[in-house]
Amino acid sequence: MIWLGFILLAVVLVFGLVVFRGAPYVPSSKKYIHQALTELYPLNSTDLLVDIGSGDGVVLRQASKLGAQAIGYEINPILVYISYFLSRKDKNVTVKLADFWMTNFPPNTTVVYVFSVTRDMDKIAKRIQTETDRLGKKINLIVYGGQIKDMKSIKSVGAYCLYEFHSLQPVKPQV
Ligand SMILES: C[S@@+](CC[C@H](N)C(=O)[O-])C[C@H]1O[C@@H](n2cnc3c(N)ncnc32)[C@H](O)[C@@H]1O
Repeated sequence: MIWLGFILLAVVLVFGLVVFRGAPYVPSSKKYIHQALTELYPLNSTDLLVDIGSGDGVVLRQASKLGAQAIGYEINPILVYISYFLSRKDKNVTVKLADFWMTNFPPNTTVVYVFSVTRDMDKIAKRIQTETDRLGKKINLIVYGGQIKDMKSIKSVGAYCLYEFHSLQPVKPQV
Protein backbone atom coordinates (compact mmCIF):
# COMPACT_ATOMS: atom_id res chain seq x y z
CA MET A 1 0.00 0.00 0.00
CA ILE A 2 2.93 2.32 0.70
CA TRP A 3 3.92 2.35 -3.00
CA LEU A 4 0.41 3.58 -3.86
CA GLY A 5 1.02 6.51 -1.51
CA PHE A 6 4.32 7.25 -3.28
CA ILE A 7 2.66 7.13 -6.71
CA LEU A 8 -0.10 9.49 -5.55
CA LEU A 9 2.47 11.85 -4.03
CA ALA A 10 4.49 11.81 -7.28
CA VAL A 11 1.37 12.62 -9.34
CA VAL A 12 0.40 15.46 -6.98
CA LEU A 13 3.96 16.83 -7.13
CA VAL A 14 4.15 16.64 -10.95
CA PHE A 15 0.85 18.55 -11.30
CA GLY A 16 1.58 20.93 -8.41
CA LEU A 17 5.17 21.93 -9.25
CA VAL A 18 4.06 23.19 -12.68
CA VAL A 19 2.82 26.43 -11.06
CA PHE A 20 6.46 27.54 -10.75
CA ARG A 21 6.76 27.49 -14.58
CA GLY A 22 3.23 28.45 -15.69
CA ALA A 23 -0.48 27.76 -15.37
CA PRO A 24 -1.77 24.60 -13.68
CA TYR A 25 -3.74 22.10 -15.75
CA VAL A 26 -7.29 23.17 -16.56
CA PRO A 27 -8.53 22.08 -20.01
CA SER A 28 -10.30 24.46 -22.42
CA SER A 29 -13.79 23.38 -23.38
CA LYS A 30 -14.13 21.84 -26.87
CA LYS A 31 -17.12 24.05 -27.67
CA TYR A 32 -15.19 27.24 -26.94
CA ILE A 33 -12.04 26.06 -28.72
CA HIS A 34 -14.14 25.44 -31.82
CA GLN A 35 -15.61 28.93 -31.51
CA ALA A 36 -12.11 30.45 -31.20
CA LEU A 37 -10.74 28.54 -34.18
CA THR A 38 -13.68 29.34 -36.45
CA GLU A 39 -15.08 32.75 -35.39
CA LEU A 40 -12.07 34.47 -33.79
CA TYR A 41 -9.28 33.14 -35.98
CA PRO A 42 -10.62 30.98 -38.83
CA LEU A 43 -8.02 28.23 -38.91
CA ASN A 44 -7.35 26.31 -42.12
CA SER A 45 -4.96 23.84 -43.69
CA THR A 46 -2.28 26.49 -44.27
CA ASP A 47 -1.94 27.09 -40.52
CA LEU A 48 0.46 25.71 -37.96
CA LEU A 49 -0.95 26.20 -34.47
CA VAL A 50 1.35 26.03 -31.45
CA ASP A 51 -0.26 25.47 -28.03
CA ILE A 52 2.10 26.63 -25.29
CA GLY A 53 1.14 24.43 -22.36
CA SER A 54 -0.93 21.92 -24.32
CA GLY A 55 -2.43 19.92 -21.42
CA ASP A 56 -4.13 16.76 -22.73
CA GLY A 57 -3.90 18.06 -26.33
CA VAL A 58 -7.56 18.99 -26.73
CA VAL A 59 -6.74 22.23 -28.59
CA LEU A 60 -4.35 20.38 -30.92
CA ARG A 61 -6.99 17.83 -31.89
CA GLN A 62 -9.60 20.54 -32.52
CA ALA A 63 -7.08 22.40 -34.71
CA SER A 64 -6.37 19.21 -36.63
CA LYS A 65 -10.09 18.68 -37.28
CA LEU A 66 -10.02 22.02 -39.13
CA GLY A 67 -7.15 20.77 -41.30
CA ALA A 68 -4.27 22.59 -39.57
CA GLN A 69 -0.99 21.21 -38.31
CA ALA A 70 -0.74 21.49 -34.52
CA ILE A 71 2.16 21.22 -32.12
CA GLY A 72 1.96 21.34 -28.34
CA TYR A 73 4.64 21.98 -25.74
CA GLU A 74 3.79 20.53 -22.36
CA ILE A 75 5.94 20.36 -19.23
CA ASN A 76 3.94 17.68 -17.40
CA PRO A 77 5.07 14.21 -18.56
CA ILE A 78 1.79 12.58 -17.48
CA LEU A 79 -0.19 14.97 -19.69
CA VAL A 80 2.27 14.45 -22.56
CA TYR A 81 1.65 10.70 -22.32
CA ILE A 82 -2.14 11.22 -22.23
CA SER A 83 -1.87 13.54 -25.27
CA TYR A 84 0.20 10.96 -27.18
CA PHE A 85 -2.44 8.35 -26.46
CA LEU A 86 -5.47 10.50 -27.30
CA SER A 87 -3.85 11.90 -30.48
CA ARG A 88 -2.14 8.68 -31.61
CA LYS A 89 -4.22 8.39 -34.82
CA ASP A 90 -3.89 12.05 -35.71
CA LYS A 91 -1.06 12.76 -38.15
CA ASN A 92 -1.49 16.55 -37.86
CA VAL A 93 -0.75 16.54 -34.13
CA THR A 94 2.69 16.59 -32.46
CA VAL A 95 3.24 16.83 -28.71
CA LYS A 96 6.60 17.54 -27.12
CA LEU A 97 7.71 17.30 -23.51
CA ALA A 98 9.15 20.80 -23.22
CA ASP A 99 9.16 24.02 -21.23
CA PHE A 100 7.69 26.61 -23.60
CA TRP A 101 9.77 29.40 -22.07
CA MET A 102 12.84 27.65 -23.47
CA THR A 103 11.47 26.31 -26.77
CA ASN A 104 11.67 27.98 -30.19
CA PHE A 105 8.57 27.86 -32.37
CA PRO A 106 8.79 26.11 -35.77
CA PRO A 107 9.47 28.54 -38.69
CA ASN A 108 6.02 27.98 -40.24
CA THR A 109 4.11 28.89 -37.05
CA THR A 110 1.10 31.07 -37.90
CA VAL A 111 -0.86 31.06 -34.66
CA VAL A 112 -0.15 30.45 -30.99
CA TYR A 113 -2.82 29.42 -28.44
CA VAL A 114 -2.40 30.14 -24.75
CA PHE A 115 -4.56 29.47 -21.70
CA SER A 116 -2.45 30.81 -18.88
CA VAL A 117 -2.58 32.85 -15.69
CA THR A 118 -2.70 36.68 -15.50
CA ARG A 119 0.67 36.66 -13.70
CA ASP A 120 2.41 35.33 -16.84
CA MET A 121 0.59 37.18 -19.63
CA ASP A 122 3.04 40.05 -20.09
CA LYS A 123 6.01 37.69 -20.03
CA ILE A 124 4.26 35.49 -22.60
CA ALA A 125 3.69 38.55 -24.82
CA LYS A 126 7.45 39.32 -24.65
CA ARG A 127 8.23 35.69 -25.52
CA ILE A 128 5.91 35.79 -28.55
CA GLN A 129 7.48 39.09 -29.70
CA THR A 130 10.96 37.55 -29.40
CA GLU A 131 9.89 34.57 -31.52
CA THR A 132 8.13 36.85 -34.04
CA ASP A 133 11.35 38.84 -34.43
CA ARG A 134 13.47 35.69 -34.69
CA LEU A 135 11.21 34.21 -37.38
CA GLY A 136 10.73 37.56 -39.16
CA LYS A 137 7.02 37.04 -39.75
CA LYS A 138 3.61 37.83 -38.31
CA ILE A 139 2.31 35.56 -35.54
CA ASN A 140 -1.27 35.58 -34.28
CA LEU A 141 -1.91 34.92 -30.61
CA ILE A 142 -5.16 33.51 -29.25
CA VAL A 143 -5.50 34.16 -25.52
CA TYR A 144 -8.12 32.32 -23.47
CA GLY A 145 -9.40 33.95 -20.31
CA GLY A 146 -6.90 36.78 -20.05
CA GLN A 147 -5.53 39.91 -21.64
CA ILE A 148 -2.18 41.49 -22.39
CA LYS A 149 -1.86 44.72 -20.41
CA ASP A 150 -0.06 46.96 -22.94
CA MET A 151 -1.57 45.61 -26.16
CA LYS A 152 -4.90 46.09 -27.85
CA SER A 153 -6.55 42.93 -29.10
CA ILE A 154 -7.73 43.05 -32.72
CA LYS A 155 -10.83 40.94 -32.01
CA SER A 156 -12.55 39.14 -29.18
CA VAL A 157 -15.13 36.35 -29.01
CA GLY A 158 -16.46 35.20 -25.63
CA ALA A 159 -13.51 34.74 -23.27
CA TYR A 160 -11.00 34.80 -26.16
CA CYS A 161 -8.89 37.68 -27.46
CA LEU A 162 -6.84 37.73 -30.66
CA TYR A 163 -3.56 39.66 -30.86
CA GLU A 164 -1.24 40.19 -33.82
CA PHE A 165 2.54 40.31 -33.38
CA HIS A 166 4.62 41.84 -36.16
CA SER A 167 8.33 41.46 -36.58
CA LEU A 168 10.17 44.52 -35.27
CA GLN A 169 13.45 43.44 -36.81
CA PRO A 170 14.16 43.05 -40.52
CA VAL A 171 15.13 39.51 -41.46
CA LYS A 172 18.89 39.29 -42.13
CA PRO A 173 19.63 38.43 -45.78
CA GLN A 174 21.11 34.94 -46.26
CA VAL A 175 24.76 34.98 -47.51
C1 LIG B 1 -4.52 26.01 -18.24
S1 LIG B 1 -3.74 24.55 -18.87
C2 LIG B 1 -4.20 24.68 -20.58
C3 LIG B 1 -4.14 23.34 -21.31
C4 LIG B 1 -4.54 23.42 -22.78
N1 LIG B 1 -3.77 24.43 -23.48
C5 LIG B 1 -6.00 23.72 -22.93
O1 LIG B 1 -6.32 24.88 -23.22
O2 LIG B 1 -6.81 22.81 -22.71
C6 LIG B 1 -2.01 25.05 -18.86
C7 LIG B 1 -1.07 23.93 -19.21
O3 LIG B 1 0.23 24.49 -19.36
C8 LIG B 1 1.18 23.56 -18.85
N2 LIG B 1 2.38 24.35 -18.54
C9 LIG B 1 2.55 25.24 -17.52
N3 LIG B 1 3.77 25.79 -17.59
C10 LIG B 1 4.40 25.26 -18.66
C11 LIG B 1 5.67 25.46 -19.26
N4 LIG B 1 6.56 26.33 -18.76
N5 LIG B 1 5.98 24.76 -20.39
C12 LIG B 1 5.08 23.88 -20.91
N6 LIG B 1 3.86 23.64 -20.39
C13 LIG B 1 3.50 24.34 -19.28
C14 LIG B 1 0.48 22.95 -17.66
O4 LIG B 1 1.03 21.70 -17.30
C15 LIG B 1 -0.97 22.83 -18.18
O5 LIG B 1 -1.18 21.59 -18.79
